[in-house]
Amino acid sequence: MRLSIIGAGAVGTSCAHWAMVRGIAQEIVLFDIVPGLAQGKALDLAQSAPLFGFSGKIIGTEDFSFLEESEVVIITAGKPRTPGMSREDLLKINAEIVKSCAEKVSKYAPFSKVIVVSNPLDAMVYVTYRTTGFPKERVMGMAGVLDTARYRYFIAEALGVSPKDVQALVMGVHGDLMIPLVRLANVGGIPITELLPLDKIQEIVERTKFGGGEIVSLLKTGSAFTTPGLATIEMAESILKDEKRVLSCSVLLDGEYGISGVFLGVPVILGKRGVEKIIEIKLTEEERELLESCAKACKKLIDLLTL
Ligand code: LAC
Repeated sequence: MRLSIIGAGAVGTSCAHWAMVRGIAQEIVLFDIVPGLAQGKALDLAQSAPLFGFSGKIIGTEDFSFLEESEVVIITAGKPRTPGMSREDLLKINAEIVKSCAEKVSKYAPFSKVIVVSNPLDAMVYVTYRTTGFPKERVMGMAGVLDTARYRYFIAEALGVSPKDVQALVMGVHGDLMIPLVRLANVGGIPITELLPLDKIQEIVERTKFGGGEIVSLLKTGSAFTTPGLATIEMAESILKDEKRVLSCSVLLDGEYGISGVFLGVPVILGKRGVEKIIEIKLTEEERELLESCAKACKKLIDLLTL
């Protein structure tokens, strides 16, 4: 089983690292157009294999024909944000980069499932979907798993409990309008509304929405990469092992939630066919309005694209 990762920057390298640690593929191939970059990163990762016992292969290359036979391809290529920039500011430049990656994926790995990580996320998944021409089940974006991990972590931190026992769901765009659902967040089955005062919950929701930006402003150069990498590998693992996990992913809506033609984060079942089912939960009036604002924001970005 081959897992390919395009872009050997911080997020791509983190994906390769976690894929090795989790042992989810026998062959991990890291690609970059910058000469030597993917090779160097792959060699560094490969040399850790004897220390923890990974017996698969890890390859770095600039040759995109290595995409052949990939079961899953992860696209991380693109520019990261700098402080003060929104993910949307990256639209034009990253659309070109992602488009050229998607062309290579459709040429060399026409049967693969593609997970997009580049920002602005929901628009970049759309670019990939349009460029590859793949069925919607095989093109998805990683954001919800990361945003939900941040939400779960902040809840656990506030309560002083293990983050493992916190379950939650973040829907919508990967941007300031994202929707960390309060009524569904729980700790060991107990709704957070029973455990935390409303103002604290509101503070956590706001911190989650700007979770990526908080890290960008601390780092000054580049954005988060450790958790984005693991969140992506959670999705890849569910596909490669046909686990049927229920994860929030950015997928093409085609009438679900009364929305069509845009990619938004919603809960889905991920298995060997890719997005095997979109789970439509009943939303409150307020949640529905928020999701519709997300759809509008995503549509606005898509309309700026020339594909
Ligand atoms: C973040 C970037 C990866 O949310 O979008 O950290």
